[in-house]
Amino acid sequence: MNVNHPDYWDQIYKNEHPRWDLGKATPVFENWLESGQTLGTGRIAILGCGNGHDALLFADNGFEVTAIDFAVEPLEYLKKNIPKDQKNISLLKADIFELPQKYSETFDFVLEYTAYCAIDPVRRDEYADSVYRILKPNGYLIGLFFPTDGRPGGPPFAIRHEEIDEKFMKRFSVVLDVIPEDSVPRRLGKERFVILQKK
Ligand SMILES: C[S@@+](CC[C@H](N)C(=O)[O-])C[C@H]1O[C@@H](n2cnc3c(N)ncnc32)[C@H](O)[C@@H]1O
Repeated sequence: MNVNHPDYWDQIYKNEHPRWDLGKATPVFENWLESGQTLGTGRIAILGCGNGHDALLFADNGFEVTAIDFAVEPLEYLKKNIPKDQKNISLLKADIFELPQKYSETFDFVLEYTAYCAIDPVRRDEYADSVYRILKPNGYLIGLFFPTDGRPGGPPFAIRHEEIDEKFMKRFSVVLDVIPEDSVPRRLGKERFVILQKK
């Protein structure tokens, strides 16, 4: 198993059921977008976008989406599912850790959902660096961190609450930090929804 290599993920998308795939966007993002308590729209990078349910949701809500994944299968799936009149999504096949320089300070928002728990945990500082680098000054990380239940093994590799603080809080200010009550049932109480602004 090498989670650092796209082949690991592609073969699951191709030959197995991607068990993390909710088949739709999470109600946490849907309800937040509907709440009107958002921070405007703009360019958003969706890291490890998978089959792209969140990419479609944010595009439908007026964001200019760059859906990023290093696996081919999910990007092909997403490509087929983008409605013809939806011009707000572009796909980028790229490694989160090797995003080209031209993406530095490009995005108003970065969306994290089940990418952080998918990467090798020893690379989590690098992940935080990538997020920081591609955000514009004062840009926002919208992060739904899962799983926070301390489960052994992975992926998904468990995320400690203190660790989220350690990795991000020094360089970001907290705009929102809640344990959502509208997670899908099997993830209820195991997610933490944060919106962090780049300092
Ligand atoms: C657990 S899946 C989650 C997919 C999607 N976020 C969702 O909620 O359905 C993790 C995704 O991250 C992608 N991924 C893992 N490591 C990556 C990396 N270093 N660069 C880009 N994508 C990566 C995988 O290919 C996979 O599609």
